[in-house]
Amino acid sequence: MAIKKIAVLTSGGDAPGMNAAVRAVARTALAKGMEVCGVYRGYDGLINENLLPMDLRTVSDIIHRGGTALYTARSEEFRTLEGQQKAAETCRKNGIEGVVVIGGDGSFRGAQDLTRQGIPCIGIPATIDNDISCCEYTIGYDTALNTCMHMIDKLRDTSQSHDRCSVVEVMGRRAGYLALNVGIAVGATTIVVPEVPFDFDRDILERIKATYETGKRHFIIIVAEGIGGVDEMAKKIEEKTGIETRPTVLGHVQRGGSPTVRDRVLASRMGNAAVELLCKGLSNRVVAMQMNSIVDFDIDEALAMKKPFDRAMYEVAHQISI
Ligand code: F6P
Repeated sequence: MAIKKIAVLTSGGDAPGMNAAVRAVARTALAKGMEVCGVYRGYDGLINENLLPMDLRTVSDIIHRGGTALYTARSEEFRTLEGQQKAAETCRKNGIEGVVVIGGDGSFRGAQDLTRQGIPCIGIPATIDNDISCCEYTIGYDTALNTCMHMIDKLRDTSQSHDRCSVVEVMGRRAGYLALNVGIAVGATTIVVPEVPFDFDRDILERIKATYETGKRHFIIIVAEGIGGVDEMAKKIEEKTGIETRPTVLGHVQRGGSPTVRDRVLASRMGNAAVELLCKGLSNRVVAMQMNSIVDFDIDEALAMKKPFDRAMYEVAHQISI
């Protein structure tokens, strides 16, 4: 029997492009003659029945906005069986026969739980960390890369003017993809990520000294959040090299801003694909992008996959940024 009504929610850390995905889910569902409602504040909204009936105009004027118009949360209550049962009950009471969950791996674990409660769920990967193993590019990653790049370009101007070293922390608690790619884009002298063991003397001091010998006078060191400690690193660099050094933590500004073309298009394709999967009667799947095609995986399998860190690219970055 054809699905008559679905819901869409955003969960976990927000990512630019989430709105474009919500819009695509809503418009695809409406085009297929289904009813659709938004859920406010992630799984909390399902537990508390905080729903927004959507028509074509509800999702107008959001494709270009960062953040999420549906708000987001990391729900503690949904981690409990009771919370999951309440959420499923809200779905049944409101005739919701499928839920599209837009978020990262924590949100997909929630989708598994809700599927276990009998509500079909489809995940859409949206996180600036790009740490979803089955997906080459997650929604929000490209925007965050560009935001970081622009901010670090500005830092370079002042760093160059003062012959200084800038030690910059970029987001990514467990993953260094953002740090690696931003590091390449800004020509960082060294990139420090959780995936590659690093040695302060060899990877930072020696590299600064070697490039100093060749005439370079300003330096950018990119450090992933998972490594942290940029204040101490900056002090130590200044102490050991005599080069004035300033730490900068870019912080949550990396999560905001208008999504890039790449993120808007990706989100639109994924939102459309998620509804198609629900219509085919599928559940517990996550939509992904591989070689520019939209594919999908079982969520259990997707969560068990490991995303290899591009060590070769890391080596290249260090070879050319000297
Ligand atoms: O997962 C996205 C992310 O921005 C990470 O890079 C970061 O470690 C984390 O979320 C920060 O979370 P919060 O918004 O709770 O501070």
